[in-house]
Amino acid sequence: MQSLSRKPACAQSQRRGIGAVGRRAVVIRAQAAPSAPSSSSSAGVESISGVRAEVVEAIAKARHNCLTATNLPLPNRRQGKVRDTYDLGDTVVIVTTDRQSAFDRLLAAVPFKGAVLNQTAAWWLDATRHIVPSALLSTPDPNVAVMKKCAVFPVEFVCRGFMTGSTDTSLWTHYKAGARNYCGNAFPDGMRKNDRLAKNVITPTTKAEDHDVPISPAEIVAQGLMTQQEWDTVSAAALRIFEFGQQEAAKRGLLLVDTKYEFGKDSDGNIRIIDEVHTPDSSRYWLADTYEARHAAGQEPQNIDKEFLRLWFRERCDPYKDAVLPEAPAELVCELSKRYVYLYEKITGQPFAVPDLGVPVNDRILANLRKAGICK
Ligand SMILES: Nc1ncnc2c1ncn2[C@@H]1O[C@H](COP(=O)(O)OP(=O)(O)O)[C@@H](O)[C@H]1O
Ligand SMILES: [Mg+2]
Repeated sequence: MQSLSRKPACAQSQRRGIGAVGRRAVVIRAQAAPSAPSSSSSAGVESISGVRAEVVEAIAKARHNCLTATNLPLPNRRQGKVRDTYDLGDTVVIVTTDRQSAFDRLLAAVPFKGAVLNQTAAWWLDATRHIVPSALLSTPDPNVAVMKKCAVFPVEFVCRGFMTGSTDTSLWTHYKAGARNYCGNAFPDGMRKNDRLAKNVITPTTKAEDHDVPISPAEIVAQGLMTQQEWDTVSAAALRIFEFGQQEAAKRGLLLVDTKYEFGKDSDGNIRIIDEVHTPDSSRYWLADTYEARHAAGQEPQNIDKEFLRLWFRERCDPYKDAVLPEAPAELVCELSKRYVYLYEKITGQPFAVPDLGVPVNDRILANLRKAGICK
């Protein structure tokens, strides 16, 4: 299966893409947009197809009407990197926006991203109920989750099945720099980028305000972030959810490469998984059936994640240090949106419902929250 193709350095008139969701991927050819900026072409953007034409059209139309901020008549708003949360006491109302963050900062606004993430997360939270209960109570709007409020463990449970990544907290970044022990996990010499790990590992980070820092389980306990018992329970649950996610992904021709989870304790002391699960934002997905051959040939795996946008910034600036970042090209932003929709449909088996573009997203959310009796 040849599903994604790397666009060559100079603009070319052919692209290949992934076939329709739910079917085996088909190679298709399409004309590259004549207006495609050569800068994005030289970034080697991979084009995904198999997303319905009506969705692709809507993505282009919605590009300047993304949900980047909310101001609901609810108390205690807190703006995270991607989500705006409102603290109602026993529950939290979490609005997933279209903000695209990486390198601890805002890179772009991506059409429908919030709705896709929220609905993908809701699907996985439901599908993993047999492993650990989640905090999710309802999704009154495609962009909104109402959750039981939890005391959040200040740790991100990063699970990995492969030696990869490009950010400062990535396993490959550390291994390449000579580290052979990372967050309490030992790795042998001689590994190559994108190698499968001998077994899945957890490489936790602290959930710091502005920058996540790698930490070992021993340090987590020594610093009092979690008790040993909490760590044992939560890390075991995280690895089971990850393994389940890998199995479900494999059924859909995907490799779930790595991901991160957050857990908290509800008012009764029960540990629950919170936030998002196996979304394209919190996870890296590769195509399964081309992985081995490409890896053996020294090529990057075919991915359906945001790595290409990260790389685009990496190649042009220092996204950790530069005060002002270049603007991501429209082609890349729309491509990312398509990938998010593709993955949602592939995972859930449901078509993405394109929202009515005539209604401003904030108005729709407010109306839905009123209908659910959450807002006055
Ligand atoms: N059920 C919950 N109870 C309390 N806090 C939650 C719950 N679910 C998610 N959160 C918190 O809401 C915030 C979501 O916003 P997000 O943009 O993802 O934040 P961050 O910038 O920390 O990633 C996170 O800080 C997350 O820990
Ligand atoms: Mg988050």
